[in-house]
Amino acid sequence: MDVLLGLQWGDEGKGKIVDVLAPKYEIVARFQGGPNAGHTLEFDGIKHVLHQIPSGIFRPQILNIIGNGVVLDPIVLKKEIDGLGKFSIDYMKNLVISKKATIIIPTHKLLDAAMETAKGDKKIGSTLKGIGPTYQDKIGRTALRVGDILNPDFKEKYQTLVEKHKTTLSFYNHPTDMLPEMEEQFFAAVDFFKTLNLIDSEYVVNDALASNKRILAEGAQGSLLDIDFGSYPFVTSSTTMTAGACTGLGVAPSKIGEVFGIFKAYCTRVGSGPFPTELFDDTGEAMRKEGNEFGSTTGRPRRCGWLDLPALRYSIMINGVTQLFMMKGDVLNIFEEIKICTHYELPTGERIDRLSFEISDLDVKPVYQPMKGWNTSLKGIREYDDFPIELKDYVTYLENELGVPIKLVSIGPDREQTILR
Ligand code: GDP
Ligand code: IMO
Ligand code: MG
Repeated sequence: MDVLLGLQWGDEGKGKIVDVLAPKYEIVARFQGGPNAGHTLEFDGIKHVLHQIPSGIFRPQILNIIGNGVVLDPIVLKKEIDGLGKFSIDYMKNLVISKKATIIIPTHKLLDAAMETAKGDKKIGSTLKGIGPTYQDKIGRTALRVGDILNPDFKEKYQTLVEKHKTTLSFYNHPTDMLPEMEEQFFAAVDFFKTLNLIDSEYVVNDALASNKRILAEGAQGSLLDIDFGSYPFVTSSTTMTAGACTGLGVAPSKIGEVFGIFKAYCTRVGSGPFPTELFDDTGEAMRKEGNEFGSTTGRPRRCGWLDLPALRYSIMINGVTQLFMMKGDVLNIFEEIKICTHYELPTGERIDRLSFEISDLDVKPVYQPMKGWNTSLKGIREYDDFPIELKDYVTYLENELGVPIKLVSIGPDREQTILR
């Protein structure tokens, strides 16, 4: 099983690359996260954003698995499936869902909002999809799982959980008047959910591996949002790194093959939290405009900045990345000079290149290596050899600094705008 994951703060372009690589696999599987993800695919002039459904869904020969590590909102799932109506996808054949995946219920979303509001200016900038509260219930051993919806006592279990949530919501003084309407939608979606292919996905995955089938595990979010290694508390609530693919699918670590680490040629972040190379000037604004950096799930403008090598090295280390894929190279076309952060400077003047526990609370300044930009369009280029020399220099410099080969460079959102090395 190969794993593909984002090495920054999400939105690196995972959806696009999963779709590009999918023909090499029999199975594509999501292992963590949920509707907070927004994975964009573009082909034949169509742009499509997926939230919970794996990005192999447009390839009819591929089995798409939503694994046990995912937190799943039935309402969002129904909307996603309805939205894919025009593609004549056979859901009973091409999409299966783990009975051990956790369900997001309406009060999880209310709790997410209540907890964010209570944090005031310390808010995380959550997508408000109910992710944190649902994983809390999972770890707290009070959650509902997909398999539960098939049991006659589901409504009873649901009610017990809702009563518990209502106590917390009243503690936060959070309104619940929209709950009846949300519940109506929820139970309609649950009825639809029951008609889908609900399975013990760990057996399907391991049987497939035993018969030498190829599986691609599709990460959501990014390593710098990981619950353990991200910029805590400004993180998501799941294990976004390679190890999460093992627990989120029931696969032994020894079964992991390649680890594809995806990064943008610069950095973006949506939501709050430290971002040492963030640009607050015209350059940052130009990056946002050129890269169309607005959230795929929430539409929020993404914060933009130069590439951060210490952070990238950290992500490569904790994930065991074997191949790097550099995304959105074309967005840097507009710059005469490009900067790469090689170190951070502490308020004491000391230079460091490691992400220590203390670093989130320190006001670190990025130290930059400037490079000459290519400052020209990459339109129509299909071969690495045809890249401008400055872009090749950028790729080679990064590869040497990071110690892992950059095997793919993406120069546009379409499937076709993908250059292999
Ligand atoms: P994901 O969450 O990692 O799947 O990434 P998103 O879909 O949230 O955000 C990536 C955005 O960049 C999407 O709008 C993609 O269509 C777009 N994109 C992907 N690769 C490239 C690229 O190489 N160049 C440009 N300009 N856009 C890209
Ligand atoms: P994909 O898979 C970018 C961010 C949110 C917030 C923090 C916590 O598309 O790369 P949560 O809703 O999980 O409680 O939010 O994490 N975040 C993402 N940022 N891409 C994502 O997913 C994200 N999923 C969550 O903005 O800062
Ligand atoms: Mg995204």
